[in-house]
Amino acid sequence: MEIIICPDSLEASELAARIVARTVREKPHAVLGLATGNTPLQLYRNLVRMHRENGLDFGGVTSFNLDEYVGIPPAHPSSFHSYMWAHLFSSLNIPRERINIPDGMTTDIPAACRKYEQAIRSAGGVDIQVLGIGMNGHIGFNEPSSSLSSRTRIKTLTEETRSDAAAAFGGEDAVPNHVLTMGLGTIMDSKMCLLLAFGKKKARSVALAAEGPVTSMVPGSVLQMHPRAIFVLDDEAADELKMADYYRWVDQHKPDWQKY
Ligand code: PGA
Repeated sequence: MEIIICPDSLEASELAARIVARTVREKPHAVLGLATGNTPLQLYRNLVRMHRENGLDFGGVTSFNLDEYVGIPPAHPSSFHSYMWAHLFSSLNIPRERINIPDGMTTDIPAACRKYEQAIRSAGGVDIQVLGIGMNGHIGFNEPSSSLSSRTRIKTLTEETRSDAAAAFGGEDAVPNHVLTMGLGTIMDSKMCLLLAFGKKKARSVALAAEGPVTSMVPGSVLQMHPRAIFVLDDEAADELKMADYYRWVDQHKPDWQKY
């Protein structure tokens, strides 16, 4: 696991964009795993800027989103479909037919989940998976107690997660109970995982995920078992890391060829 601590979320999002852009430049047919939430917003702005100003080409890219709410139509303003089109897809040239988001309106959930897994495999697997982390340690919508080898499936949200989403739905009662989410096993199959976390409220879950025991009670901790997981944090989100000074030292003394 590599942990990079940046002074603020703007610098962290610049670095994250360089990492994603490098993947796309090196592999024009890259498969991107994408996340929603507040955390990746600046990363997405940076990718749009790189596309517009530097010609970063997404024409060969395929994307798979982590999750979607069950029973929320794509056009709903709080669906993850709407989020992705508003913040990324309408400003990039990823071909529409190669954009994949779980179908929260499906009438056959197990079949839709199997099909999603199959589509990821057929695309050659995810090259780089962007992740946020919840205050309860979830990645995707894999809530605490999720199997560490889970695949894409239906999950029931915790009360904490539903309360976090309340503002987007105009009240907690309107937040769906159920979601479709890539599993922890699905995420672990990605060739690289890029987890972003910003702000003091993430400090505890980041420290538990990076330095605590690997446990389904902190789903993000499974990334300790991933051969290529990078955490890009701001100072505040790194606040409870025991080895923060060591991570900073490592980053400052990297040989040039290891820099992003
Ligand atoms: P956030 O959500 O980016 O809005 O903080 C992250 C998450 O819950 O996974």
